[in-house]
Amino acid sequence: MSEPLDLQGRHIVLGMSGGVACFKSAELARELQRQGATVQVVMTEAATQFITALTMQALTNRNVYVSQWDTREPNAMAHINLTREADAVLVAPASADFMAKLATGRADELLSLLCLARPIERCPLLLAPAMNREMWAHPATQRNLAQLRADGCTILGPAAGDQACGEIGDGRMLEALELCAEMIAFFQPKPLAGRRVLITAGPTFEAIDPVRGITNLSSGKMGFAIARAAQEAGAAVTLVAGPVHLDTPRHVRRIDVQSAQQMHDAVLPLAAQHDVFVATAAVADWRPAECGAQKIKKDGSGRVPTIPMTENPDILAAVARLPARPYCVGFAAESHDLARHAREKRLRKNVPLIVGNLGPATFGRDDNALLLVDERGERELPRAGKLALARALVAEIATRL
Ligand code: CTP
Repeated sequence: MSEPLDLQGRHIVLGMSGGVACFKSAELARELQRQGATVQVVMTEAATQFITALTMQALTNRNVYVSQWDTREPNAMAHINLTREADAVLVAPASADFMAKLATGRADELLSLLCLARPIERCPLLLAPAMNREMWAHPATQRNLAQLRADGCTILGPAAGDQACGEIGDGRMLEALELCAEMIAFFQPKPLAGRRVLITAGPTFEAIDPVRGITNLSSGKMGFAIARAAQEAGAAVTLVAGPVHLDTPRHVRRIDVQSAQQMHDAVLPLAAQHDVFVATAAVADWRPAECGAQKIKKDGSGRVPTIPMTENPDILAAVARLPARPYCVGFAAESHDLARHAREKRLRKNVPLIVGNLGPATFGRDDNALLLVDERGERELPRAGKLALARALVAEIATRL
């Protein structure tokens, strides 16, 4: 199955100003291309002190531009030509000096000239700051930053952490993979801008004793993909996750829980503050009535223990009963008769939208196929990667709000 890459058909001007973080831009150039983009590198003289134009040319298979006096363009106007086909200009690293220059509209070398001369309505400018923490915190830099935001620039990062100078604090440039994820998100449509979305994901773990428990094969991948897709679509996202080993999508607030009861207790107080609730978690229906403080031991008689069970709260149904309930989306993981079970579940849980999928055919996998069931009928989202499906589902949800 081949799906279009996330930056397929995008042409990105990668601007580099002077900073140690230039070494990350080599990887960034590769990563952007791996995601389908074409990358045109433009460097300041200062950037060439940190990494050579030759390296960037070899990595992008394109001439690198450093000077506004470059005569390789037939009209000798690299500062105009280079942005006319571009979908965005990303300056990474953006030094404190370069940001100061942009904030005042100066244009005394090719990169700043090109930023000023770009068609501002259709060629957005994104900056990935990289500098020492004192430089970042300096009122002059913060003033420039505010001005650049007011002028429509998007600022990516910076991160906090170890700095090349040995100090620790804000100002590190984001890593190549993080910047690439930011670019992918930037280009996604924003139908959930201003909305708040709450999501449950993963399995739950119901303890039998301190070392054993009951769980299931849910990987959490679908829920995490929906969290990422909703965030990319502009929403503020809270993700309540059972025990899974997955990275938190960027800018998503994550709350880790173990049991169904903990998931319920985390979700219920938050639900009314959200516009949408998507329940993807494979919540255990039952839990051992009691969790002993000590491990259950064999007694040598060959008798197996009987473990009394009790029912867990139904989180989705509880949220759907709230007076100020969010728009509720349930999942139906079935092993057979998907459409019928999904229709029944929608009515039983009293939610407007149920997303059916075949549990055994999706648990742990990177792809899935979904059946959307609402009051108007059914709609299939055919087998695809979970992120692609999550984006399609998010778009469907947005039209129903
Ligand atoms: N769900 C929930 N809390 C539970 C059980 C299920 O929030 N205690 C949610 C799931 O996250 C999913 C939907 O309800 O969105 C349906 O889950 P599923 O396991 O398919 O159905 P059940 O309600 O458990 O019904 P059954 O076991 O009979 O299929």
